[in-house]
Amino acid sequence: MDGNGRWARLQGLPREVGHERGADSVRTVVRASRELGVEALTLFAFSAQNWDRPPHEVYHLMELLRRYLIEERGEILDNDIRLVTVGETHRLPAYVREPMLDLVAASADNRAMVLCLALSYGGREMITDAVRKIARQVAAGALDPESIDGKVIEAHLDSSRILPPRPPDPHQRRAPDLDFLPVEAAYAELFFTETLWPDFAREHLLAALDDFARRERRFGLTLNNTDETARPEQGGDPAEEG
Ligand code: FPP
Repeated sequence: MDGNGRWARLQGLPREVGHERGADSVRTVVRASRELGVEALTLFAFSAQNWDRPPHEVYHLMELLRRYLIEERGEILDNDIRLVTVGETHRLPAYVREPMLDLVAASADNRAMVLCLALSYGGREMITDAVRKIARQVAAGALDPESIDGKVIEAHLDSSRILPPRPPDPHQRRAPDLDFLPVEAAYAELFFTETLWPDFAREHLLAALDDFARRERRFGLTLNNTDETARPEQGGDPAEEG
């Protein structure tokens, strides 16, 4: 959800105001996604690297998160939305972790939409964690190294316990740098926008979904041999096709 800082700078306002407007966009986009029938929405709310921002900015972001989790609790539950998280959430302060865990538990049986917040998330950190888990199984003799393929790696990612079948689509992004769901997003359709996150509204989400609807999915195959059995979640591994 980048662009909060640039949005604030353009308005001559402190970065914190950009984040506040960004939190308003979160509310708008979650509501619109639910209304439009989006199955799962993952928002990159705080990266593992964001901890190194100035302490007052980190504190402000944590406050916004806490406020969001408390204020939106009713709407999330009323709208049958399941809240889940990816990332090193144990690093979050208790005043964020507690309302977060409370809402994750309270919404666990909801089915209309998954709202996934990536918190203290880093793609490399998640891959490192998965590799460690796999290495432990190999060391214990429980896993044959030759049997490790794309699916085994995905199954050990933090996201595997919560997200629907991959790839996540469409993948909205404004900035050119990316450490977001690097494995899960293989063959995802990417959508780049010039819109700064605080300005991102229902119409921008609609434009992204509309663009996605017109894409031709090939998963690394050709038009002729792309069929249901070739889709990653159906058993084929298009990564092997190049
Ligand atoms: C990146 O923009 C954005 C963040 C580090 C924080 C995103 C957080 C929110 C939108 C609000 C809190 C979250 C929720 C779920 C309520 P940036 O600061 O890097 O801006 P820039 O790209 O313009 O520098």
